[in-house]
Amino acid sequence: MKEIKDFTVIERVQYGDMYFALTLQHPGVMQPVMPGQFVEVEVPGVREVMLRRPISVHDVCQESNQLTLLIQIVGKGTRRLSEMKVGDKLNLVYPLGKGFSVEGERPLLVGGGAGIAPLLHLSKCYNARGIRPTILLGGRTASLIPARQLLEPLGELLLCTDDGSLGEHGMVTQHTRFGADYDHICTCGPTPMMRAVARHALSKGIDCELSLENMMACGIGACLCCVCDTDNGHKCVCKDGPVFNANELTKWISL
Ligand SMILES: Cc1cc2nc3c(=O)[nH]c(=O)nc-3n(C[C@H](O)[C@H](O)[C@H](O)COP(=O)(O)OP(=O)(O)OC[C@H]3O[C@@H](n4cnc5c(N)ncnc54)[C@H](O)[C@@H]3O)c2cc1C
Ligand code: FES
Repeated sequence: MKEIKDFTVIERVQYGDMYFALTLQHPGVMQPVMPGQFVEVEVPGVREVMLRRPISVHDVCQESNQLTLLIQIVGKGTRRLSEMKVGDKLNLVYPLGKGFSVEGERPLLVGGGAGIAPLLHLSKCYNARGIRPTILLGGRTASLIPARQLLEPLGELLLCTDDGSLGEHGMVTQHTRFGADYDHICTCGPTPMMRAVARHALSKGIDCELSLENMMACGIGACLCCVCDTDNGHKCVCKDGPVFNANELTKWISL
């Protein structure tokens, strides 16, 4: 069930200049949050930022009613959120959208940029099934692969950077382990990266899920500003996604 709630910031962690994480405490009992679901965050005190901002759930502690967001500073809204301090309140609508299925026995999780965010909760859900996923993260340079140390204990962590400053030199699809024997692929990040990953999965017959990050406003399927042209017609990324199976997005993937 969706809920609108004031959460309290209980921890703030900075990752380089561009990324930060906020851990938020629910005042009571938090709704269950599936990996790949997102929240709509109200940005306090900025007149120009009227719309809530969609942010994936990075981590969840259901027992202590806490969730964590990993955020990249790209504009006024995320800049203001980066100024939040321990004790401040943030109003969230959550949990939103449809998440990852957590299927497969040999999963590969591929993330780039802010698309790394949902992979922590997703990896923990695989661990709960007794599975250590392969986690492949890519970025332009080392400082743009945030929170990687949190993923290390949860699976086999593979890294690559465009400038070679961390892990293998090149893009995720050029990583020497990218073409290994996986039976399920989940990907979240820049559109060209997700398209390349999904094209590979489709060509090999590997089940694949993509988390789209279309621009959003309402976050609940009312304004139609996030519509994606899927193989099954127009769908709201906020309500019918953000996670879609590649079989549903073959037209989008081939663009
Ligand atoms: C389902 C979903 C989950 C997301 N999860 C995360 C997350 O976990 N962490 C995170 O850092 N970001 C995430 N994003 C992206 C985040 O919502 C945007 O970066 C944020 O809304 C930008 O707000 P702003 O006011 O700072 O920037 P604005 O001033 O609104 O825009 C600044 C720049 O960012 C671009 N931008 C804005 N929104 C998006 C978007 N959705 N995708 C790509 N570019 C955008 C604009 O075109 C502009 O160039 C997610 C988006 C969606 C739809
Ligand atoms: S954001 Fe309004 S319909 Fe998706």
